[in-house]
Amino acid sequence: MKDKISNILEDVKKFNAENLDQLEAFRIKYLSKKGIVTGLFSDFKNVAPEQRKEMGQLMNGLKNAVQEKIISLKEGLEKTTESVNKPDLTLPAEATLGSRHPLSIVRNEIIDIFACIGFTVSEGPEIEDDFHNFSALNFPADHPARDMQDTFFIEKDPDIALRTHTSSVQVRVMENTTPPIRTISPGRVFRNEAISARAHCIFHQVEGLYVDTDVSFADLKQTLYYFAKELFGEKTKTRFRPSYFPFTEPSAEMDISCNICGGSGCNICKYSGWVEILGCGMVDPNVLDSCGIDSDKYTGFAFGMGIERITMLKYQINDLRLFFENDVRFLNQFKSTI
Ligand code: DAH
Repeated sequence: MKDKISNILEDVKKFNAENLDQLEAFRIKYLSKKGIVTGLFSDFKNVAPEQRKEMGQLMNGLKNAVQEKIISLKEGLEKTTESVNKPDLTLPAEATLGSRHPLSIVRNEIIDIFACIGFTVSEGPEIEDDFHNFSALNFPADHPARDMQDTFFIEKDPDIALRTHTSSVQVRVMENTTPPIRTISPGRVFRNEAISARAHCIFHQVEGLYVDTDVSFADLKQTLYYFAKELFGEKTKTRFRPSYFPFTEPSAEMDISCNICGGSGCNICKYSGWVEILGCGMVDPNVLDSCGIDSDKYTGFAFGMGIERITMLKYQINDLRLFFENDVRFLNQFKSTI
């Protein structure tokens, strides 16, 4: 038995492990229930009483040698895996240039186009009260847009909600500015919509507002003609269709000739040759009065558009969800200087 133990001890001393799996196999071989060292201990009862002291010491020595071997090999192996997995902080940084998000590119283009004709940029809060999002904009108390299905309410009585459109910013601007006012308000808006290729619960709008003495519907049309040609190209045609919004009277929606098929008909324009890009109208006198602007003295026009929709048309993107997934394969395709 003495020889047996010293042979085993030799093997243990010689052992080396290249990885943690080999070390685990070593542990099982010697120390598991059916392992060699465990086996020696269960044979201990057969050792003659006079040899027990010496054998016991040898066996304990062997067991300690196995345990120490495991600890020291483990330390070494963990250190090497650590240094392999650790980033080398002294290496120079990889020079990957980011790209601007397509929605930011189009928002910046819209801002630039309106800046050329004297429009400033204004912003407002994303969390709004009922007055700025609805009441001041002439929404009747029972208007469906106030409904739980459309609006994300944060508090009830008084109503506080995530703004459902950037028209709330025109209220804030009018409250705080004496005309002339010429401003656009880009920003995020929120509606309780199911997410699909055509709709999302978070999206972006740009609101426009022009208030002065003698502002007419002709000014509105001319401004939007200019805008559509600047954004979609000189050949773009525009048409206005009568519409309804609580905050404008008269109201209209503006279509542009389909920039995909040039007006001859395709599945994007549903074979009509036209695509709708914005809502607009003359600011309702009730709205001017609610915001403290004398509606006998001043008139104004307003318009609002969805940035996602315009970006989809401009870049022929057919699924709105792509804007929010932040897949670099999608984002890398957009390069911009603005
Ligand atoms: N606020 C409208 C919406 O969310 C868009 C809009 C339509 C804004 C007509 C306007 C406007 O200023 O005159 O759908």
